[in-house]
Amino acid sequence: MPATVIVGAQWGDEGKGKIVDLLAQQCDVVCRYQGGPNAGHTVIVDGETFKFRHLPSGILSGKVSVLGAGCVVDPEVLLDEIDGLEERGISAEPLRISGNAHLIMPWHIAIDGAGEKRLGKLQIGTTRRGIGPAYADKAARLGIRVQDLLDAKILRQKIETALQEKNIWLERVYEHEPFELEDVASRYEGFAQRLRPFVADTSLLVDEALRDDRSVLLEGAQGTLLDLDHGTYPFVTSSNPIAGAAATGIGIGPTRIDRVIGVSKAYVTRVGAGPFPSEMEPDLAAQVRELGQEYGTVTGRDRRPGWLDLVALRYAVRLNGITSLALTKLDVLSAFDELRVCVRYRLPDGTETDDFPAHQSDFHRAEPVFETLPGWAEPLDDCANLDDLPDAARSYVERVEQELGVPVELVGTGAAREQVLARS
Ligand code: IMP
Repeated sequence: MPATVIVGAQWGDEGKGKIVDLLAQQCDVVCRYQGGPNAGHTVIVDGETFKFRHLPSGILSGKVSVLGAGCVVDPEVLLDEIDGLEERGISAEPLRISGNAHLIMPWHIAIDGAGEKRLGKLQIGTTRRGIGPAYADKAARLGIRVQDLLDAKILRQKIETALQEKNIWLERVYEHEPFELEDVASRYEGFAQRLRPFVADTSLLVDEALRDDRSVLLEGAQGTLLDLDHGTYPFVTSSNPIAGAAATGIGIGPTRIDRVIGVSKAYVTRVGAGPFPSEMEPDLAAQVRELGQEYGTVTGRDRRPGWLDLVALRYAVRLNGITSLALTKLDVLSAFDELRVCVRYRLPDGTETDDFPAHQSDFHRAEPVFETLPGWAEPLDDCANLDDLPDAARSYVERVEQELGVPVELVGTGAAREQVLARS
C-alpha cells in the first residue's frame, strides 16, 4: 500500500514509534506530519533503546525521513538528537525537513512555561517545549520558518521583528527577562549552518515517491484525543494529530492516502490534566504504571492509566477513518484475573451513549459503564502470532474488533521490535 497513516487513537503514548519502526522496514519514506519535540517515541532494537522526540523513527532503518510542513522544529533538540544518533553510528543523512515547518524559538519555550505557571490550577499540563506558542505565532503569521534558516540576513531580520513584540509581552505580561537579539541571532545562525543541508521540498519529495509507487508512511505524533479541533479541548496539543492532517501536514492530497492504522494501547493512559472517564483507581493505576513503565518519554511525568475506553476508540475510528488497529501492550494486562472495558458513557441526564459526547461539559461529567471480561493471567512471551494468544486474550482482541467494526492487525506483547504479533 503506497501511503499509510499511523495515528494515535487515544491520548498519545500508544506505542506508535514501535509500530512505525516495524512498518518502516517495508517502506521507502517515513514522514512526521505535525507536532514537535513534545512527542516521545521509544524504540528498542536488538536490546538497544532509542528515544526520539523529533526525528521520525524511520531514521533507524536508514529510510528517507521527513519532517513535514505541519511540524514545529526546535533546532537545538533536533541537533542533539542527530548528534546522539551519529554517536551511536546511525547516520541522520536521510533526514529531510520541510522549509515550511515553523521554528520553535526561545520565547516560545519561555511563554509556554510562564503561561502554564500563570494558569495555576487551571493549567493544561503542557510539555513546556514551546509547542502552543509556536503554533499560535504560525497562525498569527508571526512565525519564523525553517526556510528562513537558509539566509542569515533574513533570519536575523525576522528574529529582530519578532523580538520587538515578544520582549514586550515577556517583560510586561510574563515578568520574564527579555531576549537579546545578538544572543538569539548568533545561536540560531549556528543551528542554521548545521541544518541547511537537510532542508528540502518535502511535499514534492513525497509526491514523487508516491508517483514512483514507493511506499510512504505518514506518522502522527500525540493522539486523536489531543487533536486541537476534535480532542478534549482545552486539554489538547496545538496541532492536529488526526489522519486528515497527514495530507495538509505533508502537502499531498487526501485522495493519496490508502490506509489508516490506528494505534491503541490495550488499556489507556493520559498525561497532563483533563477529564478521563475510564481512569483506574490509584492502587491499580500504580500497578499498571509500573508494569507498563508508564512515565513520559519527554517529561518523565507519571502517566494516568485507565481501562480500555471503547467509546473514545469508536470516536477515533470515526475521526481518522481507521482501516485497521494495532493494539499495543497487551502483555501488561496479563497481570490481572479480570479486566474491565468501558463500553458506554452514562451522561448527567441518566441516558447512556455509545458515542463520544460532542460537548465538553457532557464529557467532563460522563460516567463509564464498564463490562468485566476474564483475564488470561499468563505471559504472552511464547506467542508467535495472533492465533497463539490464550483464549481470553483472543476474546479480548475480538471484542475490540466487534465493538469498533475494524480488524486488529497487530498486537504488541512487549517492548522489543520483534514483540509484535500479526495474523498467522
Ligand atoms: P503540548 O503539546 O506540550 O502543548 O501539551 C498539550 C497537552 O498534550 C498536554 O496534556 C501534554 O501532556 C499532551 N501531550 C503532548 N505531547 C504528548 C505526547 O507525545 N504524548 C502524550 N501526551 C502529549
